[in-house]
Amino acid sequence: MTDYRYWRLNSRPEGHEYAAALSLETAELQTVGDGQVLVQADYLSMDPGVRVWMTAREDSYSPPIPLGTPMQGQFLGPVIESRADGFKVGDIVRGFGHWATHSLVDPVMSGLMVLDPSVRDLRDHFGTLGLNGWTAYCGLVDVLELKEGETVLVSAAAGATGSVACQIARNMGCRVIAIAGSDDKCAWLTETLGVDVAINYKTQNVEAELAKVDGGIDVYFENVGGDLLDAALPNMAMYGRIGISGLIAGYTSDGGLPGPARFDQILMKRLTVKGIFLPDFLAKGVNYYAPLKQWYDEGRLTGDFDETKGMDNVLVAFERLMRGQNLGKVVVDVRN
Ligand SMILES: NC(=O)c1ccc[n+]([C@@H]2O[C@H](COP(=O)([O-])OP(=O)(O)OC[C@H]3O[C@@H](n4cnc5c(N)ncnc54)[C@H](OP(=O)(O)O)[C@@H]3O)[C@@H](O)[C@H]2O)c1
Repeated sequence: MTDYRYWRLNSRPEGHEYAAALSLETAELQTVGDGQVLVQADYLSMDPGVRVWMTAREDSYSPPIPLGTPMQGQFLGPVIESRADGFKVGDIVRGFGHWATHSLVDPVMSGLMVLDPSVRDLRDHFGTLGLNGWTAYCGLVDVLELKEGETVLVSAAAGATGSVACQIARNMGCRVIAIAGSDDKCAWLTETLGVDVAINYKTQNVEAELAKVDGGIDVYFENVGGDLLDAALPNMAMYGRIGISGLIAGYTSDGGLPGPARFDQILMKRLTVKGIFLPDFLAKGVNYYAPLKQWYDEGRLTGDFDETKGMDNVLVAFERLMRGQNLGKVVVDVRN
């Protein structure tokens, strides 16, 4: 029998005290059952949403992860054993499993997908071409019905989801305003991704900067919530649309975010506010992949990575993500 390693959630973390709440464990791999697939992870994806599942919140879109069980998350790597139709040894797959060196999964429950091996950097199957990219495309195109010439605001814009949202809006002929947490991120957004304006919310007055936007904001792709949502609301255009993709400013709290304080602007500006939740649209993923892949091949969609190496350092990577120390997609290379 082979051993594997996984991160176990032992208690609900306080703030960013992840090392006190999770431990790295070793266990024996179970035998692959009928209909199951065993995957050896090359990479793990770090995703802020799982921080909500670490809390005791029962009112989230996913129940709390039971204490004493493996931490949940996305993996990417080769199939090493399969007893399920459609998956064979050597296929490179992505799915929902555990923060682990191996995940033994039911392909349907884990959303397991055989990946296009022609993609030049497999890690892009997490970020630009993966669920971050799909969320951005689904949110802007399907949910918010973005149109050419509109003014689009994106928060957490230098992150995995936000950076794709900025590029989709740019590629669709929109004016793009990006919010991020450092001057370096803002420079990357304007110089590499070609957004029109980048605002550093840590050093600039976001509401005052947004007030300079001629005509107001037609579409806000929101990843953060809290103060940034309050800064955007009075600066929306009449009949503007807001898509709530994420509310990371409240993910460490058991109670979620209060507010927004400028809720009145939804009436004053006749705004539409919609939640964006990619798993509701997962079956449409192939429709999102095709245009993203075309832009990727044409050099009109790019991303960056914040990569950490080693299973031992998964919590370091997760904390970097949650503290905003990343530019681009946060991944952990767990091959060694
Ligand atoms: N709805 C869905 O289906 C779905 C799917 C995937 C992701 N998402 C959401 O998309 C958002 C981004 O996720 P991601 O995976 O792409 O991560 P990411 O943007 O690569 O990383 C998170 C970023 O959030 C920013 N941030 C962290 N704490 C913040 C705070 N308190 N206030 C303001 N900004 C903060 C940081 O950048 P700064 O430097 O800008 O602070 C950080 O880099 C999250 O809210 C996530 O839940 C939603």
